[in-house]
Amino acid sequence: MKTLCLYYSRTNLTKSAMEELAKILDADLMEYTDGKDRKGFWGYIGACIDSMKKTLPKVTIQGSPDFGSYDRVLIGMPVWVEGPSIVGRALIKQYGQALPGDVYYVVTHMAENDYLKKIKAMDSLLGRPSKGQVSLRTKDNDYLGEIRAFGNELMR
Ligand SMILES: Cc1cc2nc3c(=O)[nH]c(=O)nc-3n(C[C@H](O)[C@H](O)[C@H](O)COP(=O)(O)O)c2cc1C
Repeated sequence: MKTLCLYYSRTNLTKSAMEELAKILDADLMEYTDGKDRKGFWGYIGACIDSMKKTLPKVTIQGSPDFGSYDRVLIGMPVWVEGPSIVGRALIKQYGQALPGDVYYVVTHMAENDYLKKIKAMDSLLGRPSKGQVSLRTKDNDYLGEIRAFGNELMR
């Protein structure tokens, strides 16, 4: 099974999780972005402001993958302001139809909140049910251990 791992990451936590996953699944790993520099304090404030807007940004995937050559895609993103990041949601909305067969969401967050319901709700942007979802708390938690376990499950 040929797998594509896509990620958006502001502080590299989602990136680390997706790197682990790509290693386990022997997958191609590519970054997607809305092109905005969101580093530091002002980047954080900008991300909060953009999260309040109704319109989603336009995203690009670095490496321009040929979706047709993959059997499944795993999409990594952080939580921003109590829901999956606008950049991740934009990717799903923009590319949903074109994404290959099985789609999984990998969402990281700081709080102990359970974001699974909001994560699953992204299926309305995808236009079909996602195959799986994982919600990872990155603060004070072995989230890399959790993502390895998730990856090993997918290998079965
Ligand atoms: C603008 C912004 C809003 C955030 N809102 C939340 C939130 O509502 N709940 C939460 O648990 N974490 C929140 N976080 C924390 C991130 O989801 C968390 O640190 C994530 O693992 C960061 O991933 P990254 O390093 O890949 O960007 C927020 C982070 C940012 C930048």
